[in-house]
Amino acid sequence: MSYLAVKHLHMTFAALSGMLFLLRGVLMLQDSALLQQRWAKIVPHVIDTVLLASALVMVFWSAQYPFVEGWLTAKVLALIAYILLGTIALKRGKTKQVRLAAFLAALAVFAYIVKVALTRQP
Ligand code: HEM
Repeated sequence: MSYLAVKHLHMTFAALSGMLFLLRGVLMLQDSALLQQRWAKIVPHVIDTVLLASALVMVFWSAQYPFVEGWLTAKVLALIAYILLGTIALKRGKTKQVRLAAFLAALAVFAYIVKVALTRQP
């Protein structure tokens, strides 16, 4: 597989991950039972695993490492923030207000990750 193919896989799954998170957040705000379905629990993990695996392949193939390259450090730290905010938004937030705030913050962090990816500037 070429580097470019891995990069396109990464970008495609980044877009899928973001769109699915947006959908799950809207379902959460509507208290939809769809969120409890099996696919809603499994598919995001599959997508995010491909997203991260493709990221790691590029990290090694291009020899650009987080905590060496500033923009990759920013991506990893922002990814951790995105995951934490995402679990508060979809699961752990006790009130709707907390979940909504976490959802909006997670979307902002996701936008930041895309911006860092495109500009390579933290
Ligand atoms: C939500 C998480 C992520 C999103 C939305 C995302 C998004 C993107 C996008 C849109 C690109 C293409 C940029 C371009 O046009 O050149 C890209 C490239 C890349 N990403 Fe990610 N990414 C994410 C997570 C990560 C993580 C955690 C890492 C590594 C630790 C990573 C490593 C890379 C690398 C190495 C490239 C390729 C740069 C190149 O060689 O051109 N990404 N990412």
